Amino acid sequence: MADDDHGYRRNLTNYGDQRFALYLRRSFVQSTGLSRELMERPIVGIARTDSGFNNCHRGVPELVEAVKRGVLAAGGLPLDFPTISLGEVFLSPTSLMFRNLMAMDTEEMIGGQPMDAVVLVGGCDKTVPAQLMGAASADMPAIQLVTGPMLALSFRGERLGACTDCRRFWAKYRAGEVDDEGIDTIEGNLATTAGTCAVMGTASTRACIAEALGMSLPNTAAIPAVHADRIRAAEASGRRAVAMIGKGPRPSEIITPRSVENALRVLLAIGGSTNAIIHLTAIAGRRGIDISLHRLNEMSDETPVLVDLKPTGAYYMADFHAAGGMDALLWELRDLLHHDCMTVTGETIGARIREPVFVDRAVIRSRDQPFDPVGGLVALFGSLAPDGAILKRSAADSRLFEREGRAVVFDSLEDLAARIDDPALDVTADDFLVLQNAGPVSPSGMPEAGYLPIPKKLAQAGVKDMVRISDARMSGTAYGTVVLHVSPDAASAGPLALVRNGDRLRLSVAQRRIDLLVDTAELDRRRAGWRPHPKPTRGYRHLYANHVLQAQHGCDFDFLRGVDGPKAV
Ligand code: FES
Repeated sequence: MADDDHGYRRNLTNYGDQRFALYLRRSFVQSTGLSRELMERPIVGIARTDSGFNNCHRGVPELVEAVKRGVLAAGGLPLDFPTISLGEVFLSPTSLMFRNLMAMDTEEMIGGQPMDAVVLVGGCDKTVPAQLMGAASADMPAIQLVTGPMLALSFRGERLGACTDCRRFWAKYRAGEVDDEGIDTIEGNLATTAGTCAVMGTASTRACIAEALGMSLPNTAAIPAVHADRIRAAEASGRRAVAMIGKGPRPSEIITPRSVENALRVLLAIGGSTNAIIHLTAIAGRRGIDISLHRLNEMSDETPVLVDLKPTGAYYMADFHAAGGMDALLWELRDLLHHDCMTVTGETIGARIREPVFVDRAVIRSRDQPFDPVGGLVALFGSLAPDGAILKRSAADSRLFEREGRAVVFDSLEDLAARIDDPALDVTADDFLVLQNAGPVSPSGMPEAGYLPIPKKLAQAGVKDMVRISDARMSGTAYGTVVLHVSPDAASAGPLALVRNGDRLRLSVAQRRIDLLVDTAELDRRRAGWRPHPKPTRGYRHLYANHVLQAQHGCDFDFLRGVDGPKAV
């Protein structure tokens, strides 16, 4: 029996007799058939998230086997354990509501079970942030292994990939350009392999950010889910996790203000998902690091978009990887990055970008010929959003950036669904569509509903984009002039709750402003008549409703942010 506190000796169950607890645990381990030699080894936990309700994680069992192989080869004992899994399109009202639950599950299972390091296997939108939030709080040596993106395969002469093309064809269907049979056929050809969405949506953005933070092995973010290199990355992650036992680095050494800035740089340079701001804020918040939206704006103005990927460009994630992937992107950004940030390899990020690497300029542009000279995301402030809002300018129509419009208001998702296609709806292409009560505190839990559909009668008349404003989120695969994450949200009595049909609103991307042009006395009168939604009285939804924070705090729970003391390696 080892005389240190690694492996099965860690985190003994408390019976008031530690020797008995270890004896009992080992007795039960014997029933698994493990040899004594393996029982003495340090343990690498493998957080697995395969689920019948998560198609994006179809490849997880194969990855877990490869991680195990790597751990065993390096002298550790691999033990996989389940956590909840968040399949983006299978959860109601929205996966974000359950991200914090998964983060708590992950943190507590890392901290409560006997393991010395952990490999986190996840991929779909909320799973990677949840795993990193949990790992950041547990502060045990941890490596993020993503499941990798799907392939975009050809169908009738056109490459299709979830889910930018899903939305593109749905918009055509709504506009009458695709018929019922056509949309049925497309449905069967959008997501055809294992893996996460094939474009630079939330999952891919999160994968790139995890690597930029230093929490994944180099150049693994974009390896396609079905590529053999993905399995090799899993094996390497297992090996590396063993090497981190007792030495680190721990997440607290990796997730620092400077590595968070590196992650923000990468987010801007890839034209990444708006959701990533919320998730990165939540992860950083677990280490007591605040992200300023004003700082985001400064960085956005000096960080070009370098990748030509959907939803803003032409290519898919598999093309990004083949074009040089994260190695090539980080090389291009080298003068904008903090080189001294530690990574899970035990080397700094600067150490991995000492030399140029292969790059395909069709997909990853140079700094002097960027896809877009400024970053993909900007934060807006103003009388409508005193605490901020987000616009993905790289996915928006710049002709709509400086304008004033009349508000057409929907006070809930139900109201939106009921009226958006009503032929009698009083709306023109110059109006601003406003959705209320879809923010983090609302009963809907901040769904990806900010991409309000163009009213059918306008879509059929050829309108492709309008200014849309809400406290909701937007899928990373979507596009349009969509102002999101308006804070405080309407359910917290933010100014958004006070907008009425016919009010004037002004958007100025140049000035980073979003304003409600209604005088203060009238707003005070409306506020006096505002009533909150009743909150759930039991279960997780009770916990959620009473503790979720606004978007600028990452929608984490108030009691989970910050550091509550150092943890042992
Ligand atoms: Fe899972 Fe897009 S639905 S990554």
